[in-house]
Formats: sequence, C-alpha cells, structure tokens
Amino acid sequence: MKIQIAVLLSGRGSNFKAILNAIQTKYIMNAEISLVVSNNIDAPGLVYADVKNIETLYMDKSLYNDRESFDRVIIERLQKKRIDLVCLAGYMMLISPCFVNAFKNRIMNIHPSLLPSFPGLNAQKQALECGVKVAGCTVHFVDDHMDHGPIIAQSVVIIEDNDTEDSLSKRILEEEHRIYPEAVKLFVEKRLLVEGRKVKILGR
Ligand code: GAR
Repeated sequence: MKIQIAVLLSGRGSNFKAILNAIQTKYIMNAEISLVVSNNIDAPGLVYADVKNIETLYMDKSLYNDRESFDRVIIERLQKKRIDLVCLAGYMMLISPCFVNAFKNRIMNIHPSLLPSFPGLNAQKQALECGVKVAGCTVHFVDDHMDHGPIIAQSVVIIEDNDTEDSLSKRILEEEHRIYPEAVKLFVEKRLLVEGRKVKILGR
C-alpha cells in the first residue's frame, strides 16, 4: 500500500509541485498525493491539482461558524481517503486542536524562516527588518501553536547586503523545494522519530 498524502494549500502551490515532482521522479518511492484541499477556490495550486487529475476539495470558510466545524469536514474527508500524511504547503489558515489530535505527528508544515525566529506572516520581511545575517526555512510537525512544532529539517540562506524581500524569498523558496520533499521522503521511509520537541532521523 502506498503512503497516502494530502496537501493543504491556499495559493501558488510551488511546494505542492515540488513534492509531486519528487514522487513522479521516484525520489520519493511508495507514496502518492491523493487529495489537495484549499480554502481558496482560485488557488493556482488547486487548479494545478485538477489538471493533474488529483482529487480536490474546496472549503468555503464562510459556510462554517467556527474553525472546528470547518476542520471536522476536512478531517472526515482525510480519514475517508485513509490519508497517512498531511502536508501544509502555504496553507494560510490555523488548524484547530481537533485536527492536530486526529493526525498527531502526521501533519507537516513548511515555513520561510529559521524557526523559532519569525513565525507568522511575511517571515522574510521580518528577517530583513531585524537585520539578521542568516535566514532560511523550516519543515516541522504541526502542534497546537502556529509555526511551532517539532523541527524535522532546516536550511540556512545567507542574507546579502542588497537583498530585497523578493530576492531573499526567491532563494529561500529554492531551499523549501529541496527540504520539503526530503522531509516527506523521511516520513514515507518511516525514519522520523518524534521525542518531545525533538525529531530523530533514523538510519543516518
Ligand atoms: C512558502 O514560502 C511557505 O513557506 C509559506 O508560504 C509560501 C507558499 O508558497 N508558508 C508560510 O508562511 C506558513 N506560515 P507556495 O504556495 O508556492 O508553496
């Protein structure tokens, strides 16, 4: 049985494409993306999934009174599809504790900073404004707090004096496309062991 992956996204979907490409080129073996969920009907990532004949689910937030009832519909669909791993890839909604509990240590997120620095929106801009010399990206398991859970992988990007938000974001994104598939591969190969806040990588 292949490991079943769901991707949740809100926009462009370049990280989704990077993971899909890693599966198609067999960098990640024995896995498939069987569902893409979005809260944005116009998300290019959702459109791309459709083109690739991957099942999609659009969730209209305005139809739900609260985050939990919204998430319960997603959880039900994920469980029905027997999803093993949920990848948040530019999913700009907070997920509720019931979602985290239903998929404990099975939800990953990518964030464009070296967490725990600069969680939240515009992480690259936050890094530039703070004057730090290195930025980067982080893949982590999701817990009840935003951009917070146990860290699986990070990559460092040196900040240059003339960097703009755009130029820095571009270099960080290249690293995102490298480390997110790497983290998914480790999960699929059952090589990630979570111990408290630490993630051990087995067989290294
Ligand atoms: C990526 O840079 C990702 O790290 C970021 O959104 C972008 C989505 O791009 N996620 C967060 O900021 C999460 N807090 P993509 O749609 O092209 O993958």
